Amino acid sequence: MPAPAIVFPADPLNPRRPDPHFAWEARTLRELGGEQYLVDHDALLAGDVAEAVRRVPEDCGPLWCRGWMIPAVDYAAFDRALADRGANLLTSAAGYASAHELPGWYGVFEGATPPSTWIPLSPAAGRPGAEQLAAAVERLGGHGPAIVKDYVKSRKHEWDEACYVPELSDLASVGRVVDRFVELQGEFLAGGVVLRRYEEFARAGGGDGTTDGLVNEPGAGGGPAGGPAGARGRGGNGERPVEARVWWLDGEPVLVGPHPDAPGQSAEPDLTGVRPLVRALGCRFVTTDLASRADGSGWRVVEVGDGQVSDLPRGIDASGLLTSLIAA
Ligand SMILES: Nc1ncnc2c1ncn2[C@@H]1O[C@H](COP(=O)(O)OP(=O)(O)O)[C@@H](O)[C@H]1O
Ligand SMILES: [Mg+2]
Repeated sequence: MPAPAIVFPADPLNPRRPDPHFAWEARTLRELGGEQYLVDHDALLAGDVAEAVRRVPEDCGPLWCRGWMIPAVDYAAFDRALADRGANLLTSAAGYASAHELPGWYGVFEGATPPSTWIPLSPAAGRPGAEQLAAAVERLGGHGPAIVKDYVKSRKHEWDEACYVPELSDLASVGRVVDRFVELQGEFLAGGVVLRRYEEFARAGGGDGTTDGLVNEPGAGGGPAGGPAGARGRGGNGERPVEARVWWLDGEPVLVGPHPDAPGQSAEPDLTGVRPLVRALGCRFVTTDLASRADGSGWRVVEVGDGQVSDLPRGIDASGLLTSLIAA
C-alpha cells in the first residue's frame, strides 16, 4: 500500500498549481517528500465531479484532501468519483458528514459543548415557521441568550443582525435573527438552522488573563475578525473569545494551534475530557475548536470540524501534521 497522498484544490487561474490559499501547505508537503494531486473545486461544487478529479492519477491509492469546505453531498460524489479511479479517500462520506455537520457530532459531544437544537431546512424551503422556532426555543430551556448558525457555519461577522440572540424568550427577536440568517445564507444554507445556548468564554486582552491555559501574546489583536465590531453585543470587553484549534489524527492531538481568525492568540487547552469524545466520534482526522469558560470552570468544545476542510492558520508549522497524515 503506498503512503497516502494529499489532494489540494487547484488554482482556478492556473490549474497546474495549487490554489494560492493552500500553496504554502502544498510546498511544505513537497519538502517533506509527500505526494500531492490537484482537484478542481469549482467543478466539484458545480456537479461535474469527473472533471473535478481528472488530474488525479488512476490507482493512486489512499488519499487525504486538504481544501475548501465541501457540502456533505458533494463530498460523497467526490469520494465515489475517486473510488472509480482507484483512489480512496481515507475519510468516508459518512465520516465526513459526522465531523462536518453539527447534528453529526453533537450527540457525542453533548455536555462538553453548548446545548444545541436544530431545525432541518432546505435552502428552497424559506424560513422556519413560528411554531417550529417556538418548539426549538423550548427545547433549549426557553430563556437566556443564544446563537444562530447552520449545520456548518455561523454569520459571526454579522453578530447582532444574524448570529446573536440576546433573549430566547423574546420569540419575535429570535425570529428576526433567524430570518436574517436564513436570508443571508441564501442558497448556501447548510442543512438547517441551529440554535445554541450562548456561553461566556474567556477573551484576550485583560479580565480573563488569569484563566489557566490562556496565553495572551503581546500585540495579539484578534485580526480582522476580532476587535470591538466583531464583539458587539457579546457583553465582553471588546475582544473575541480565545479559541484553540486542536487537530486530531486517529484520536491523538497532532497539532494544537490558534484559531485561524486570530492567529496571534494561542492557548494551551486541557484535552483530558475531549480526547475520549474524539475517539468516540470515530473519525480519523478532525479538528476541535476549544474555548475556556470565562468563569474558569473548564474548556468547552465550540465546534468540531473535518480536518480536511478546517482552515490552518498561515505561518503555523504544519510539518508535524502533514508528516502524520502521510504516515497514517
Ligand atoms: N454557544 C456559544 N456561546 C458563546 N459564543 C459562541 C457560541 N457559539 C459560537 N460562539 C462564538 O461565535 C463564533 C462562531 O461560532 P462557530 O460555531 O465557531 O461558527 P463558525 O463555523 O462560523 O466559526 C465562535 O468562534 C465563538 O466566538
Ligand atoms: Mg468556528
